Amino acid sequence: VEPDEAWAEEVRKLARERDAVLLAHNYQAPAIQDIADHTGDSLALSRIAAASDASTIVFCGVHFMAETAKILSPEKTVLIPDARAGCSLADSITGAQLREWKAQHPGAVVVSYVNTTAEVKAETDICCTSSNAVDVVASIPADREVLFCPDQFLGAHVKRKTGRENMHIWAGECHVHAGINGPELAERAAANPDADLFIHPECGCATSALYLAGEGAVPADKVKILSTGDMVHEARATKAKSVLVATEIGMLHQLRKAAPGIDFRAVNDRASCAYMKMITPAALLRALREGADEVHVDPETAARARASVQRMIEIGQ
Ligand code: 13P
Ligand code: SF4
Repeated sequence: VEPDEAWAEEVRKLARERDAVLLAHNYQAPAIQDIADHTGDSLALSRIAAASDASTIVFCGVHFMAETAKILSPEKTVLIPDARAGCSLADSITGAQLREWKAQHPGAVVVSYVNTTAEVKAETDICCTSSNAVDVVASIPADREVLFCPDQFLGAHVKRKTGRENMHIWAGECHVHAGINGPELAERAAANPDADLFIHPECGCATSALYLAGEGAVPADKVKILSTGDMVHEARATKAKSVLVATEIGMLHQLRKAAPGIDFRAVNDRASCAYMKMITPAALLRALREGADEVHVDPETAARARASVQRMIEIGQ
């Protein structure tokens, strides 16, 4: 299936017939981003899903994102064009592992990244995304221990920003972002001394970038640790003529649309998330035609998970 005008018209017609809103994450293929009613980062899309009055949400992203939409709006039909679109980061902690970790730290507040299963969210006090993780942890009284999961690089970033000592970090990672490494970033930064560095906090290189800045190898004001949504805002605000982007390469599409005059380049142009790319034009068409794959969350798990997601949505609004 080619994402041509006939395809776009068919998608729009079927979406209207289903009273569906199409949401696409910033890592989706360009054709999917362009047909969506809204593109954004995980926090923005959760908020839009919660506020939308459409009866069906078609989530072009990965499974935990569609699951989060279902948790927030159990009365709506939530479809994902391919339910196999998982997430290696969400797979790095199970509900049972989190229960065991909590038992070792009674009284600790559990903060989970939104890249987790509904079962993990149900064991969580407050969810966060990369755009509000620092605010979420800062909102917890200083004398309470914090268990942060599952991303170790985002956890390290939050710990640095909040200066919090009583924070334990789970050793999970996203295989795509962990693969964007420090030496690669250092080499690219040295070859492009005037470029801004936009770095997603899930990256293995986020710590190295701050180290390079600390050593004076890169001007500190050029190193920007940002969620995917904040990258789009920063693209509109920066005076830089070129930007090195350390995140999944789908991001480049929104950045180039937001600031066509800037030369955006990937730090690692192999950093593509195969799960995100399972949402093909053909899969989207099938989802709208067949009403599949539908996302279900056990109502009791959803009710427990909802409290932690709602706390996240309320912070910083
Ligand atoms: P954000 O869009 O919240 O920055 O998250 C990135 C991500 O890895 C989602 O898979
Ligand atoms: Fe998960 Fe990483 Fe893919 Fe994001 S890029 S969906 S964190 S595997």
